[in-house]
Amino acid sequence: MQQPQLLKPPSIFKHFVILITLQLQEIPIVSLSPCRSFCGSVPINYPFGLDDGCGAPQFRHMFNCTNDLFFQTPSGAYKVQSIDYDKKSMVIYDPAMSTCSILQPHHDFIMTDVQSAIIPPSQDTVFALLNCSIDSPVLNHYKYLCFNFSGHSCNELYGSCNAFRVFHLLTNSSPPCCFTSYNTVKFMSMNILDCTHYTSLFNTDGLRGVGPLDWIYGIKLSFSVPDTGCEKCRKSGGACGFDTDTEGLLCLCSSTTNSTLECAAGTGSMMASGQSNAPRIFYQLAMILGSFVYMVMKFISEFEL
Ligand SMILES: *[C@@H]1O[C@H](CO)[C@@H](O)[C@H](O)[C@H]1NC(C)=O
Ligand SMILES: *[C@@H]1O[C@H](CO)[C@@H](O)[C@H](O)[C@H]1NC(C)=O
Ligand SMILES: *[C@@H]1O[C@H](CO)[C@@H](O)[C@H](O)[C@H]1NC(C)=O
Ligand SMILES: *[C@@H]1O[C@H](CO)[C@@H](O)[C@H](O)[C@H]1NC(C)=O
Repeated sequence: MQQPQLLKPPSIFKHFVILITLQLQEIPIVSLSPCRSFCGSVPINYPFGLDDGCGAPQFRHMFNCTNDLFFQTPSGAYKVQSIDYDKKSMVIYDPAMSTCSILQPHHDFIMTDVQSAIIPPSQDTVFALLNCSIDSPVLNHYKYLCFNFSGHSCNELYGSCNAFRVFHLLTNSSPPCCFTSYNTVKFMSMNILDCTHYTSLFNTDGLRGVGPLDWIYGIKLSFSVPDTGCEKCRKSGGACGFDTDTEGLLCLCSSTTNSTLECAAGTGSMMASGQSNAPRIFYQLAMILGSFVYMVMKFISEFEL
């Protein structure tokens, strides 16, 4: 068959590619939501927010994203190492804190009253007060605040850790120490406690038979999520937030639309949830497929002419 139409397929193919490209451009790569959902590699979901007006108002102004995520308390900005949204816990690390391998001048760990109430250190986070004076309240009147956990006594720290051996060397005996919970640190500053250093460790339930060198140092916070019907907003494709003036709850649907409870169909940020993304992608695939079938039909009909 001698047919000039044989030149057609490439041009039809080109049309098809252009069509697909146009279709794909409709899928926004950047989220429409005014709320950032990552800081570095740490995912930011409700109840937390980086941008003012995002997340739950209770957690307002607690975070700072300067390359890394920082949790801010009156005693400093602590690097957030991880957030577990299922277990509702967040691990922070105080770079100025002493650990088994490094001795640093003491400073207090202080949280605001709101922080102590909604995101306090977890039950399995233990504070170790070290090099306490014999007059320390935790050795006298408040002795009962000290405990041993998983078979460990705080004296082990002096023997096992290079950083803490110095206390032992200077006095040729082990200065008093105390394993205690956050509440002790909350109500008594290090000056009142009369201990020169502290360290903290978490996941203490699993440390039976594990030496101090292998303990995990840092602070695990356990947060509560206000029950405000955020699920409904998220399912509609929005991000939960609040009015920055009144702190009244809002469902942030896009940079131009807010709603009180949930987003109207089609206004939600497409990247806010995988679910809301799916229908649009199917729609676009159907469009592409439709165009393709149309092209093929056209091609065939032209051939038959
Ligand atoms: C955020 O945290 C960093 C890290 O400590 C700190 O240097 C910076 O001042 C903080 N930024 C704000 C806006 O608070
Ligand atoms: C341990 O505490 C004593 C006071 O109780 C202090 O004089 C000494 O400097 C402390 N040791 C270190 C290494 O800071
Ligand atoms: C912790 O263990 C040490 C050493 O085994 C022991 O001397 C101390 O009395 C224990 N402290 C508490 C509060 O049980
Ligand atoms: C939606 O709410 C956010 C957070 O309060 C605010 O920054 C934004 O201006 C609001 N947008 C509209 C269109 O009202």
